[in-house]
Amino acid sequence: MSLRVKLFLSNVILLFFPGIIIFLLARNWLGIYDNDIQTNLLVLIFIGILAILIIISGLLSFFISESILNPLKKLRIAANEIKNDNLDFTIEYGTKDEFYDVMKEFDEMRQKLKLSLDENLKYEEEKRHLIASITHDLKTPITVIQGYIEGILDNVANTPEKQKKYLTTIYKKTEDINKLVDDLFMISKLELNKISFNLTKIEITEYLREIIKEIESDLLFENIKIELDLPFNATIKIDKLETFRVIQNLIQNSIKYKSSDDVMIKIETRDSGNNVLVIFEDNGIGIEKENEQKIFESFFREDSSRKHGEGSGLGLSIAKKIIEAENGRIWARSREKGLAIYMSFEKI
Ligand SMILES: Nc1ncnc2c1ncn2[C@@H]1O[C@H](COP(=O)(O)OP(=O)(O)O)[C@@H](O)[C@H]1O
Ligand SMILES: [Mg+2]
Repeated sequence: MSLRVKLFLSNVILLFFPGIIIFLLARNWLGIYDNDIQTNLLVLIFIGILAILIIISGLLSFFISESILNPLKKLRIAANEIKNDNLDFTIEYGTKDEFYDVMKEFDEMRQKLKLSLDENLKYEEEKRHLIASITHDLKTPITVIQGYIEGILDNVANTPEKQKKYLTTIYKKTEDINKLVDDLFMISKLELNKISFNLTKIEITEYLREIIKEIESDLLFENIKIELDLPFNATIKIDKLETFRVIQNLIQNSIKYKSSDDVMIKIETRDSGNNVLVIFEDNGIGIEKENEQKIFESFFREDSSRKHGEGSGLGLSIAKKIIEAENGRIWARSREKGLAIYMSFEKI
């Protein structure tokens, strides 16, 4: 039995008793069956009451069922749209009744579904891009290695100097592959939460002085100047080893993407409410403003930076994952000359 019929019957039953009472009152008022005219009048009143009863029931049922069936119809249409993978619609329902909240929640569910679907699509797209980049970045050095080995086998490298040159190139390329595989391994471990971070409390200025000393001793170039400007100190919680990896990549980037032979790197600490900011600023080639976020994506390398040497484009993506695992944030700001990388850590 449909909702409309149910409502109609319930209304008829509800109105039946008042109808009978009115009929009985009318009968009393007229006196009983005195003559034919009165009998006929009574039948007429009975039919009239019955007709009014049916009309009122019909109208009541119609309006009540409409106010239920209309929103249900809207929900059915919306559910159908979702079933057909269309999530770009909005449910419009202005009446502030019990269905209003249902509609609102349904629409929120649609928005969430759309968001997760969009994220899934983005993730799939990133995965495809990642595989294409890995394939390309592995294929390039392998092709070079193959070419040089052929050169040796075909005796093109016919002097000890040439052979040494060929072998050095081969060695460098295997190093590139090794670094790429290491970085990829690190990325996938970070994404799968397979790295257990050993968070320890450190004093930021002391830590920076310590590791810069260590990094400086590894830098063979004489014209790299690292200036420490650490007026603000704070205790923070980080994984010393992983953060070292991040800072090492920042310094290597500043060296790799230099604009002249004099590399200047300034490291600064700044107070920022509940956080401490650590800023790495260099005088290198810098980046385009619109790439400030992109450089933290896996495999992203600015076109202009490609001629400045090899790189996988994974260093900053790893850095971002590490800093975020330490509850920190990392971002870039392009400067008129050079690049500034900001890191913010919660004060303990
Ligand atoms: N200090 C910098 N100066 C200019 N560009 C930079 C700097 N650091 C990073 N970049 C840009 O960001 C990209 C990503 O950096 P990164 O993830 O470390 O990869 P890679 O060092 O392998 O190129 C670089 O290819 C470069 O285009
Ligand atoms: Mg790098």
